[in-house]
Amino acid sequence: MYSDRDKLHLILFSLLSNAGKFTHEGYITLDAAQTSVNNVVWVTFTVTDTGIGMSAEELKHVFQPFRQLDDSSTRQYEGAGLGLALVQSYCEAMGGHISVESKPRKGSTFIVQLSRDILQII
Ligand SMILES: Nc1ncnc2c1ncn2[C@@H]1O[C@H](COP(=O)(O)OP(=O)(O)OP(=O)(O)O)[C@@H](O)[C@H]1O
Ligand SMILES: [Mg+2]
Repeated sequence: MYSDRDKLHLILFSLLSNAGKFTHEGYITLDAAQTSVNNVVWVTFTVTDTGIGMSAEELKHVFQPFRQLDDSSTRQYEGAGLGLALVQSYCEAMGGHISVESKPRKGSTFIVQLSRDILQII
């Protein structure tokens, strides 16, 4: 893959950190696959966990900066609520895309699509 190494590192690191943080017992997988669309090769990274998951309402705000689903003073999970906002802006800055699917108590799947050759699309 010919890409922005630091941005790609942050994207995968943030998604895997979240998967680890929000999964107490279960599985986390990272999958990578490539597909061709109109002569552009895309790499799809999929991070799946079987953790706490999110409701449809919570999912609407998941990429907003400083947004944490539990923002009470006694909240259980650490973090600034910035990871996913940064991940989304990096994906878009690289001409890519991020999406998410999730169900409460079932887990979450984050799907990142980036060009295999960043120079082809930027
Ligand atoms: N894999 C996941 N499973 C369940 N909830 C998640 C998952 N990833 C993100 N969330 C929810 O989305 C919120 C925002 O995630 P984000 O990564 O932006 O912030 P954070 O992890 O709380 O803090 P930071 O990434 O800045 O350390 C999280 O606080 C959590 O409520
Ligand atoms: Mg995070």
